[in-house]
Amino acid sequence: MTTPNSWLITGASSGIGAALARSVARQGALLFLTARRADQLDSVANDVRSAGAEAVVLPCDLTNAHDTEAMMRDVLARTTPDVVVHNAGRGNCNSIEDTSDATWDDIFALNVDAVFRITRAALPAMRQRNSGHFVTISSVAGRMAFPFNAAYVAAKHAVTGFTAALRTELAGTNIYASIMCPAGVTTNWANATDGGPIGTIFADGIRLSRTIAKERGLPLAPLTPMMSAEAFAHAIVATVERGRSSDVFTHAGTMDHAALAVTDRNALDDAFLPLHLGMQQAYRDNHRS
Ligand SMILES: NC(=O)c1ccc[n+]([C@@H]2O[C@H](COP(=O)([O-])OP(=O)(O)OC[C@H]3O[C@@H](n4cnc5c(N)ncnc54)[C@H](OP(=O)(O)O)[C@@H]3O)[C@@H](O)[C@H]2O)c1
Repeated sequence: MTTPNSWLITGASSGIGAALARSVARQGALLFLTARRADQLDSVANDVRSAGAEAVVLPCDLTNAHDTEAMMRDVLARTTPDVVVHNAGRGNCNSIEDTSDATWDDIFALNVDAVFRITRAALPAMRQRNSGHFVTISSVAGRMAFPFNAAYVAAKHAVTGFTAALRTELAGTNIYASIMCPAGVTTNWANATDGGPIGTIFADGIRLSRTIAKERGLPLAPLTPMMSAEAFAHAIVATVERGRSSDVFTHAGTMDHAALAVTDRNALDDAFLPLHLGMQQAYRDNHRS
């Protein structure tokens, strides 16, 4: 694909989306930036403009279908984006018994429904031009599971499936759809989870898992180091530059874990047993009233 001129980035107010906007700005593109926090979007847009690119700020709560469709009409009235990055996402931190209907619905509304609506809105214009690239920021949680965020794990599996289905409908065209499955990226994501910070349960769980592994004579769970938002943003740009792309696993070992989830889930669960038990203890400790 030639260098794309226009990008729609959802969740551009912080973390990966903001890092991507700043990175793409150096190519002098036109960027549509959306998320809820207008002040944060303005700050990213100022950086984008300082780098010589054009930025259009479109504050929107993507859990609202009507507002999402209006935001897409605004984008398409200006241009057909070359790249749509489905990046906005939020997790949760609840056991399944503690997950309310509202949490479940909200997690799906953002991580799945918005991706569907934005894609559906952009497709006719992309098809007319016969070019474009959708990039879905799924997660390793869209391929395997971790405890205490079942709504998020289910939503990321759903959005992985949605994007895979999209690819089948785009077969034979010059429009691509890529699935990216990061593990930990150093953003505020793990603190902003619905129901409390899942980052605390992970951190405490990892600490406890060391004792559990030692007591049971088990190897430590195969966790991968965190990656910076900037490094992950570069991986997104590289994925777009590649054009047609198989699923992208940016963190060492995670593709093997995803494969094991298909070929031998018992082995995957066994490998992560000390972490799962550590997180169970951490969740109990954190939710003792
Ligand atoms: N960080 C990780 O370890 C990690 C790992 C795997 C996958 N991911 C995925 O990477 C993506 C980006 O996350 P991040 O790490 O950059 O975290 P982040 O800094 O918390 O970014 C999340 C973005 O989503 C936006 N958002 C949240 N709720 C929204 C809503 N209702 N409407 C519109 N936008 C909304 C936020 O903006 P506002 O709050 O301003 O609306 C923010 O811009 C997410 O899909 C996440 O699931 C992250």
